[in-house]
Amino acid sequence: MTAPEHAGPRPAEEREALLRMPGFGSLWSDHMVTARWTAGDGWQPARTGPLAAFSLHPATMAFHYGQTIFEGLKAFWRPDGQRALFRPGDHARRFARSARRMAMPELPADAFLAAVAALTRIDREWVPQARGHSFYLRPFMIASETHLSNRPAEEYLFAVIGSPARPATAEPAPIRLWASPEYVRAADGGTGTIKCGGNYGGSYLAQREAAEHGCHQVVWLDARERRYVEEVGGSNLFFVEGDRLVTPPLSGTLLAGVTRDSILRLAGRLGLAVAEAPVTLEDWERGCRDGRITETFACGTARAVAPVGHAVTPDGEWAIGDGGTGPVTRRLLNALLDIHYGHAPDDFGWLHTV
Ligand code: COI
Repeated sequence: MTAPEHAGPRPAEEREALLRMPGFGSLWSDHMVTARWTAGDGWQPARTGPLAAFSLHPATMAFHYGQTIFEGLKAFWRPDGQRALFRPGDHARRFARSARRMAMPELPADAFLAAVAALTRIDREWVPQARGHSFYLRPFMIASETHLSNRPAEEYLFAVIGSPARPATAEPAPIRLWASPEYVRAADGGTGTIKCGGNYGGSYLAQREAAEHGCHQVVWLDARERRYVEEVGGSNLFFVEGDRLVTPPLSGTLLAGVTRDSILRLAGRLGLAVAEAPVTLEDWERGCRDGRITETFACGTARAVAPVGHAVTPDGEWAIGDGGTGPVTRRLLNALLDIHYGHAPDDFGWLHTV
């Protein structure tokens, strides 16, 4: 079922009520930005218009061969009333990398930035004010040519939609992770480093298996040896060893998360040593049992930072620390939120006001 359509902008009162409890991914702002590309003419100028359903032929290539890519980035309300996008240039560059890997046309970074800024500007009233809340922007591109040949499409549709999002709270509930013995997310030379739809669709069977084991998400192991911990669901993973932070290296199968990079940089500011080093499932379990690993957390744009309370494998489970939110996780999350909401100086130049 698709969400019910609303004709034209929502009345202010209705919008304000929705913004109080936005949830995630089920509410839309009033507009969208679209742009088309054809092999003959390249990119056409972007259009900003009312949010509306697409009408697509059943032979639209994206339905059959999966040339679809996306990004997720956030805009925040600033204390001075302005709205600011968080690291939009990094998202633009990753979107271009995703396009290249999927043999899709690269959208120039300035066109990406103009599109996300245009939507944030026109739907500025949809950017929630409360700390923790945000306006989640979803830029995406699909192969829009009508054809059944097994080759890269010659027409594409780029669009940006926006969705007010629930708070990333200072006390997020710890999650339980399931280490899938059977399924892998990404292999060398595959598409694990980019954001294409298939990476997510291909993960849902394992996610269902995780739920059957009472877990929220899957922790992905490397495809070659099934030993090294790589990612969690659609997020990156960090281990805290006292005042040292360890995260798996970008080995060629992991997504280079923008939040991952932000955490690495903020950690230095907070006096934590950082290492990008491989961690096996066995190391993780042993480290938690002998007290060397005191905390573990997942991070990504949508969730910000999520503490991991327990890990579960077919052979048993273990707690990380006391199974709650650890002090380092909390400090890093707060440092990130302080920058998002303008409560700490933006020394890294991450915010882009629109
Ligand atoms: C994000 O964190 O923005 C993601 O891409 C996760 C998304 C699949 C909900």
